[in-house]
Amino acid sequence: LPANEVAAVKDTWNHIKHDEVAILEAVFKAYPDIQARFPKFAGKSLDSIKGSADFAVHASRIVSFFSEYISFLGVENTQPAIKTILNELGQSHRNRGVTKAQFEEFHQALMSYLKSHNMWNADVNHAWDDAFDKMYFVIFSAL
Ligand code: HEM
Repeated sequence: LPANEVAAVKDTWNHIKHDEVAILEAVFKAYPDIQARFPKFAGKSLDSIKGSADFAVHASRIVSFFSEYISFLGVENTQPAIKTILNELGQSHRNRGVTKAQFEEFHQALMSYLKSHNMWNADVNHAWDDAFDKMYFVIFSAL
C-alpha cells in the first residue's frame, strides 16, 4: 500500500478502534446471518447479548486482529508475518463454514461504521478498499 493510503487507514482506524462492542453490534445488526454463525449468539436478540462478557471478548478479538494487520502495513519485511496471520484466519473460518459472501458483508458493515465515524472522502475510501483487497486476497485463498 502506498504511504498515503497507509496513513489514511491508520488514522481512521485509530478513531474507532476503541469502539469494539459498537463495531460488532453494527456488523450483527446489518447482517444477522453473520450473528447466526456464532454458536453463543445464534437465535438471540442483539440487545440481550451485546452487554455480555462473551460479546466483549469476541468484539475485542476481531478489533485486535485488525489492529495487528494494520500495524504491519507500510512496515518493511512484514509480508511473511501478514500472510501467516491471514492464512490462519482463513483456515479457522473455513473450518466454521464462513463464506466469501459473508466476509464481503463484514467488509460492507465495517466500512459503514468507519464512514459514519470519520471525515470521509474518495481517497480514504480507496485506501480502505485496497487494505481489504490485500487482506481478503490471502484469506480467500485459504477459505
Ligand atoms: C472467531 C476475526 C469475519 C465468524 C474469530 C477470531 C478472530 C476473528 C480473531 C478468534 C480466533 C479464531 O478462531 O480464528 C475475524 C475477522 C473477520 C472475521 C478479522 C473479518 C475480516 C467473520 C465472519 C464470520 C465470523 C464474516 C461469520 C459469518 C466467526 C466465528 C468465530 C470467529 C463463528 C468463533 C467464535 C467462538 O466460538 O469463539 N474471528 N472474523 N468471522 N469468527 Fe471471525
